[in-house]
Amino acid sequence: MNKMEIPKELIEKLKSAKSILFFTGAGISAESGIDTFRGKGGLWNKMSAQELASFDGFMKNPNLVWEWYQYRRKNVRETEPNAGHKTIAEFEKYFNDVTVVTQNVDNLHKRAGSTNILELHGNIERNFCLDCKTFYDVEKFIEAHEVPKCEKCGGMIRPDVVWFGEMLPQGVFAEAERKAIESDVCFIVGTSAVVYPAAYIPISAKEAGATLVEINIEPTNISHQVDFSIIGKSGEVLPQIFEMLEL
Ligand code: OAD
Ligand code: ZN
Repeated sequence: MNKMEIPKELIEKLKSAKSILFFTGAGISAESGIDTFRGKGGLWNKMSAQELASFDGFMKNPNLVWEWYQYRRKNVRETEPNAGHKTIAEFEKYFNDVTVVTQNVDNLHKRAGSTNILELHGNIERNFCLDCKTFYDVEKFIEAHEVPKCEKCGGMIRPDVVWFGEMLPQGVFAEAERKAIESDVCFIVGTSAVVYPAAYIPISAKEAGATLVEINIEPTNISHQVDFSIIGKSGEVLPQIFEMLEL
């Protein structure tokens, strides 16, 4: 990608920004080798979200769902954060107020070094008991090929991710909205922005006056509402923006 494609006005805006929010989705991890959900090669093109990512699906076939999450965990552990995640982590060193609001469950923002992360859809590195809500680190049942039983109450263990039809984690969404409203610049990176309530985050930012910057390999649902739409891979565009800031 040519440097000219990143607008100078965006760089100026960023230089004076006090609060920056990154709203991210599966696309930011694509360059790490993790499949996205929609679009070319998307998981939901070949697998059923209803079967694999809903509470009903889990109750119908718990071991299938458990195995699928074990598989994804293994996959995620074999990957590394890419230049996109790393650049976002770098922003924290130069700006006081940087928040990552992610729909991803892959833990890659954390592994890249970001510290201020709000996970809207949970984290694949945790499990919890359906009955007594005890949390377990992923290591605990890493070898299990069937749904494990809770050590305290015998209840079924499930991944700590948000499934279709479920509520977002208490307080996390509210905090994300608060940071969105405070933000001067809100990046929307690698998300189709079709899943609600998560997709309200950039809208809240815009309504409160933030400049919206989209980075995606193709236009999305939200492209017509953004101030700057940059077409390209997040692992290439974000480092270029950062470099242009000359920090
Ligand atoms: P999607 O799979 O819907 O969208 C991924 C987006 O990333 C698409 O718009 C792609 O064009 C874009 N993309 C792909 N590669 C890219 C790259 N290298 N650089 C930049 N952009 C790239 O994923 P999400 O928007 O995250 O929900 O999906 C939202 C939610 O739907 C997920 O959190 C998950 C899913 O069902 C739950 O698990 C609850
Ligand atoms: Zn329990």
